Amino acid sequence: MKISIFGLGYVGAVSLACLARDGHEVIGVDVDPWKRDLIRNGRTPIIEAGMDTLMAAAVASGRVQVTDDATSAVRGSELSFVCVGTPSRPNGSQDLRALERLAAQLGDALRAKAAYHVFVVRSTVMPGTVDDVVIPLLERHSGQRCGSDFDVCFQPEFLREGSSIHDYDNPPYTIIGGRSDRGVATVRRVFEHLPREVKVCDIRTAEMLKYACNSFHALKITFANEIGRISQAAQVDPHAVMALLCEDRQLNISPAYLRPGFAFGGSCLPKDLRALCNLAGRRDVSTPMLSAIADSNRMHLEHAVELVLATGARSVGMLGLSFKSGTDDLRESPLVVMAERFIGKGLAVRIYDPHVNLSRLVGANRRYVEDVIPHLGSMMSDDLDAIIDQSQLVVVGLRTDEVVAALQARSRPDHVVLDLVSLPRPETLRGTYQGVCW
Ligand SMILES: NC(=O)c1ccc[n+]([C@@H]2O[C@H](COP(=O)([O-])OP(=O)(O)OC[C@H]3O[C@@H](n4cnc5c(N)ncnc54)[C@H](O)[C@@H]3O)[C@@H](O)[C@H]2O)c1
Repeated sequence: MKISIFGLGYVGAVSLACLARDGHEVIGVDVDPWKRDLIRNGRTPIIEAGMDTLMAAAVASGRVQVTDDATSAVRGSELSFVCVGTPSRPNGSQDLRALERLAAQLGDALRAKAAYHVFVVRSTVMPGTVDDVVIPLLERHSGQRCGSDFDVCFQPEFLREGSSIHDYDNPPYTIIGGRSDRGVATVRRVFEHLPREVKVCDIRTAEMLKYACNSFHALKITFANEIGRISQAAQVDPHAVMALLCEDRQLNISPAYLRPGFAFGGSCLPKDLRALCNLAGRRDVSTPMLSAIADSNRMHLEHAVELVLATGARSVGMLGLSFKSGTDDLRESPLVVMAERFIGKGLAVRIYDPHVNLSRLVGANRRYVEDVIPHLGSMMSDDLDAIIDQSQLVVVGLRTDEVVAALQARSRPDHVVLDLVSLPRPETLRGTYQGVCW
């Protein structure tokens, strides 16, 4: 394929060398004459394992051209990768000036081209940037229509500096965010030889995914380091702890706990997190990330409460009360806290939870109910249908077949349904559906 690459920094230079190696004819474009000269002479503009030999071979193959002329590069290629930098401004927001300038240039270049063209944004950009900034600039400057005359895809780049050639050839997967089958199919041709799956999604999902991945990586590093500092202070070997933590592929290194949903609670996580933060505090170990977890969890619960209060509903049916479906444990259940907040605001609350039978609760769970929430008993009912019928708003904290079927049968156009559990097929419900964070 004939491919142009705009921006010859880490991402662009590695892509250029790898694409030429794979047999494509590549035109590299950069505003920096120093980088252009280096590449033209078969030298790498970045320090990266294997790049010296790869770039020398790529240029020697005769399949690499370098220019600063965007118009000739767009005309001479069928697909363009956009790899310009998107640095931080002092307030953390993204500086899109290079991308905006380039999108305008690419649009101008496209004006003179009749053949179909695909642009692939690989720079890391905030969700909505391609739809709201890049495509409008391309359309305005080219006078052409995205989706017919040209297409734009977003393909997040997962390479890591230091191992970028290896990562280019072995990505976790290839993600193509696109609006049209034709655009996606064109990008797929470039990457389908890689040993990993190609996954197609919409552009905003692909844009957000890159931030979710990088934040997750940063979170993992910080987590391991905070556990390290607490372990050090407690004379425990953090390497042994983290190595064993990683061996649990069921709960730890797995998709468990990684689905957006409701706040956590129960008799273990809040208590043990508090104890760990307390230990850190006593040893003068600062652990801002671990210490912020409880606050974030509280904010998530508060967000759900605010969603309900904002509707103006006066009667709320709560389906589910215990901290987790299938248990009767009410200790530190976020649904209990939610019910308390509604009662405090004077709402009529009715609660259904088939696993919670107040007369049968025992031990610490019973003491918790008697001491902390003695009044909730009178609000509980096992008549699921009646609770749905008599409530303006239904908070769904239980994802059983019975609850799903009752909601599908009895939801009304004037109902509001607040979903905390990712109900299946929410479009089949009547009324206003609202996910807690979706
Ligand atoms: N570095 C990484 O490991 C990595 C990994 C994944 C994603 N990303 C993302 O990819 C993007 C590029 O990152 P990078 O590290 O390669 O950036 P970089 O700063 O090393 O390179 C960007 C290049 O774009 C050039 N440029 C700017 N405006 C231009 C224009 N109008 N026309 C042509 N060239 C122009 C610059 O001269 C520079 O050489 C960023 O959004 C970054 O967040 C980077």
